[in-house]
Amino acid sequence: MRPTLVICALLLLTALAVGQTYNQQESEVSVVAVSSTDAHILDGADLVVAGGPTHTHGMSRPGTRKMAGKRAGKPGSEAELVPGADSGPGVREWLASLGRLEVAGAAFDTRLQGLPGFTGRASKSIRRHLARHGARIAASPGSFLVEGLTGALVEGELERARAWGERLTRSDCLRGAAGRRQAS
Ligand SMILES: Cc1cc2nc3c(=O)[nH]c(=O)nc-3n(C[C@H](O)[C@H](O)[C@H](O)COP(=O)(O)O)c2cc1C
Repeated sequence: MRPTLVICALLLLTALAVGQTYNQQESEVSVVAVSSTDAHILDGADLVVAGGPTHTHGMSRPGTRKMAGKRAGKPGSEAELVPGADSGPGVREWLASLGRLEVAGAAFDTRLQGLPGFTGRASKSIRRHLARHGARIAASPGSFLVEGLTGALVEGELERARAWGERLTRSDCLRGAAGRRQAS
C-alpha cells in the first residue's frame, strides 16, 4: 500500500502522528506540505489523507494563513509552522486544483476546543471536496484540538491522531485497493 498524506499550515505534528501509525504497519507513507505538492503527487497512491486547520469555521484562506503565520512567530507560541505555509497555497486551493481522484480519501483538521457547531470543522469541507473529486471516503473525518492561546495540541490529541490513523489502515476501502492491485 502506498498512502500519501498531504498536510497544510500548522498541522505538522498531527500529520506526523497519523503517518507514524502507517509506518508501524510497514506501509509506504509520504507526509507532504500542501505547498510542496505537484500534479503527480497522487500517482500510484492508494490513499490520500488531507488535512488543514479550521479557520473562520472552515478551510483556511490566504488571509487567515497570514494571520496564523504571524501568531506562530510570537513568543510563547507552540504552533509548529510548516515552512512557507503562511504564504503558499492551502488545502482549499490544492483541492480546487485536483482532477478526478482514483484513490481512497480521508480528511482531518485541527480546531479549538468547543462544540463543533461553534468552532466549525474544516475536515467536513475537505471530505466533501475529496468525495466530489471521486475519492472513496475511507473514514469519518478526524478533528484534533489545539489550545487557544499557544496553538499547541491539547494533551492526548496526538494519541487520538495516531488511533485515527490506525483505524484508517483497517478501512474496507484500502483492502479493496490491495486486492485490485494484486489482481492486475
Ligand atoms: C485567522 C484564524 C481563524 C481561526 N478560526 C477558527 C475557527 O473558526 N474555529 C476554530 O475552531 N479555530 C479557529 N482558529 C484556530 C485554529 O483552528 C488553530 O489555531 C489551528 O487549528 C492550528 O493551526 P493554525 O495555527 O494554522 O491556525 C483560527 C485561527 C486563526 C489564525
